[in-house]
Amino acid sequence: MITEEVKARMREICARYPDPRSGTLPCLHLAQEAEGYVTPDGIAAVSEVTGTKIDEVESVVTFYSMYDRAPTGKYAIKVCTSISCYLRGCDGLMEHFEQRLGIQRGQTTADGSFTLQGVECLAACGMAPVLQVNGEFVENVTTADADALIERLKRGEAVAAQPGAWNVLPSKTGASAQQTAAGSGSAQTGKAK
Ligand code: FES
Repeated sequence: MITEEVKARMREICARYPDPRSGTLPCLHLAQEAEGYVTPDGIAAVSEVTGTKIDEVESVVTFYSMYDRAPTGKYAIKVCTSISCYLRGCDGLMEHFEQRLGIQRGQTTADGSFTLQGVECLAACGMAPVLQVNGEFVENVTTADADALIERLKRGEAVAAQPGAWNVLPSKTGASAQQTAAGSGSAQTGKAK
């Protein structure tokens, strides 16, 4: 819900800029954090606070894959499908996730745990193929990494192998589940649901 408190935080952010419209992106993050995804109410609030037209705010939301326009599962897995990742096998990776999770891209598992999405370039092309889990990057992903990642998330463990090593999966460090679980707090960004 977009409360007055959320709007107050948005105004506070916009006050830092000479032009309040510069606060559009962080305000959208607040709106998503408050409701789990960017709702029409969230867009209206950002429009009101930043002085940006509704359709302009909507165009920003649809441009950036970091914003969701619909509810997602507990873990939103976003696989980059742009050219560098395509050349490095993202199609096979996506198919692997689809088979493993039993869903197609754009769908959420019946238990609400996983949403699988294909997204445009995540700006980490040098480490292709790349994906994000709730905004956290994972790079150089193989199908074995995908399996390990799903199992880790099912166990409630962090994406990363160790705090700060946000792009390194345990399968590439040899870190044990116990070691990585111990460092899960600061490595995972999480997402409001
Ligand atoms: S093409 Fe995948 S991160 Fe740029």
